[in-house]
Amino acid sequence: MKKLTIIYLSNGGNVEVLANHIAKGAKDAGAQVLLKLVSEASVEDVTNADVVAFGSPSMDNNNIDQKEMQPFIDKFKLIPVNNKITGLFGSYGWDNGEFMNKWVSLMKEYEFNVVQNITVNEAPTNEQLVKAEEMGKSLVK
Ligand SMILES: Cc1cc2nc3c(=O)[nH]c(=O)nc-3n(C[C@H](O)[C@H](O)[C@H](O)COP(=O)(O)O)c2cc1C
Repeated sequence: MKKLTIIYLSNGGNVEVLANHIAKGAKDAGAQVLLKLVSEASVEDVTNADVVAFGSPSMDNNNIDQKEMQPFIDKFKLIPVNNKITGLFGSYGWDNGEFMNKWVSLMKEYEFNVVQNITVNEAPTNEQLVKAEEMGKSLVK
């Protein structure tokens, strides 16, 4: 059984609903899922997982959240993740996904193997929630 850890930050709930749907998809596919707020997550939650997914809103001038998510991610500058399979998800207000492009590049630099990402404008549509479930399923295949 694959172990998926999902770590996210959400102020208004838009990213959280994506996290929940990714979790549902992965569970339906038979995976063991650990769903955590970044404020409660540890490095081991990432290193012990077969697959990881991270979610953040676009904040702080079209970047991922700089108070909690960025410092958490930056820990992996020095901790090896050995090309762990990774999905990224997030929501933006006006940047059209610019924050996600920057985030994908950063994660690749830290040797996460980013295989999928999903971005939505504000609240996800029903169609986007289905995509989030599919992402959960395919991450744990
Ligand atoms: C304080 C604050 C800063 C934000 N900064 C940006 C930004 O720089 N670029 C952007 O596209 N959206 C920005 N947004 C919009 C959020 O990314 C968007 O509302 C998102 O859906 C929030 O996700 P959440 O409900 O999970 O917190 C900002 C929102 C807030 C409240």
